[in-house]
Amino acid sequence: MGSSPSSSSVVFAVLFLVLNAPVLCHGGKTSSFVRKVEKTVDMPLDSDVFRVPPGNNAPQQVHITQGDHVGKAVIVSWVTANEPGSKKVIYWSENSEQKEEANSKVYTYKFYNYTSGYIHHCTIRNLEFNTKYYYVVGVGHTERKFWLTTPPAVGPDVPYTFGLIGDLGQSYDSNTTLTHYEKNPTKGQAVLFVGDLSYADNYPNHDNVRWDTWGRFVERSVAYQPWIWTAGNHEIDFAPEIGETKPFKPFTHRYHVPYRASQSTAPFWYSIKRASAYIIVLSSYSAYGKYTPQYKWLEEELPKVNRSETPWLIVLMHSPWYNSYNYHYMEGETMRVMYERWFVQYKVDVVFAGHVHAYERSERISNIAYNIVNGKCVPVRDQTAPVYITIGDGGNLEGLATNMTYPQPEYSAYREASFGHAIFDIKNRTHAYYGWHRNQDGYAVEADTMWFYNRYWHPVDDSTNSEP
Ligand SMILES: [Fe+2]
Repeated sequence: MGSSPSSSSVVFAVLFLVLNAPVLCHGGKTSSFVRKVEKTVDMPLDSDVFRVPPGNNAPQQVHITQGDHVGKAVIVSWVTANEPGSKKVIYWSENSEQKEEANSKVYTYKFYNYTSGYIHHCTIRNLEFNTKYYYVVGVGHTERKFWLTTPPAVGPDVPYTFGLIGDLGQSYDSNTTLTHYEKNPTKGQAVLFVGDLSYADNYPNHDNVRWDTWGRFVERSVAYQPWIWTAGNHEIDFAPEIGETKPFKPFTHRYHVPYRASQSTAPFWYSIKRASAYIIVLSSYSAYGKYTPQYKWLEEELPKVNRSETPWLIVLMHSPWYNSYNYHYMEGETMRVMYERWFVQYKVDVVFAGHVHAYERSERISNIAYNIVNGKCVPVRDQTAPVYITIGDGGNLEGLATNMTYPQPEYSAYREASFGHAIFDIKNRTHAYYGWHRNQDGYAVEADTMWFYNRYWHPVDDSTNSEP
């Protein structure tokens, strides 16, 4: 076997290359954290978290979201099971004895053999900024009282703390994610939710009872602070086999958003200002090609963002543009091709997406030089570009995405197949502190962190891995 020394050195060389591939390719960190391998299962219908509040026809599934473009309005929504009941929301600021009233509009819908309860949506306007309000829904012995705090007036150096949750579902892991978010010592003041709420569509005939259970499950957070909604694929509920051909029917009946306030023509893409942030919500599942309503809206929307008023430009969407897992690989590519150059031009700070049931954070990169013939088809470091974060790790019953592409691409700064949530904590116009929390650790432990430097006011290099 005279050739053995050379073959073993070949084997050694190959092994060296394979084992060091991430280093040689200058990829970021693939976490070696190994989570417990318990199956992700939904909580049963008789779980505590799904309990119907006591009293006949008591309001349930109470939730709030921002109700206008600047944060002086809130949409209060709830469901009554048996009859419409009271349409009133009674509210008062903590500094005042004066009680005010606003009326809801009531909606119902049918989905195959399911009939919804009475879904109330009430927009309360002309609230004071930065004020705690109490509000009551229901009547008599079924009155339920909650509270909320309006955001500070929009302004460039207003600190504000956003939570980030995606693809939540209603499993035991979902419950852990929500609990950790609630207990995080850096208190989130509003949640940016990147789509895929209840996963009711995984049940036979899209059993809409699971939309109701989800509404009761998350009430403990979303009745007290607004969640900003993004539509995911599990909101489509398109089921022609059972005669359900109107996409987004349960979602649009249950979750209203203030899309008209930003001149949007559909509730799937819209914007809000909140404190020092300008948040643009896009729809991966509505037409986004040239000449479409979403395209025209975004084209007109981006130039409106005044960074002297709202320094932080944040985009939410469901399907990520940069994703190095072997799940939903390149599903976001066509939308990236349409819009990425705008994100670079308008200096978007960060893009949050879900869909992939894992966590990933990119470096600042762009792939906009490519024009079919020039061969420049690899993402490159670009300090004008956003950071892309996939946070589809809320814990839904479909389980974790554990299968990653190798080697880790150079653009991928950190990736890990664990459930969790994140906090984006804006300090002023230049700095924001970001931390991702995996569920296996205590809620105060951060597994991935980054100081964001604002792309408009402080566009210095904030890479977390050195350039190749
Ligand atoms: Fe999804």
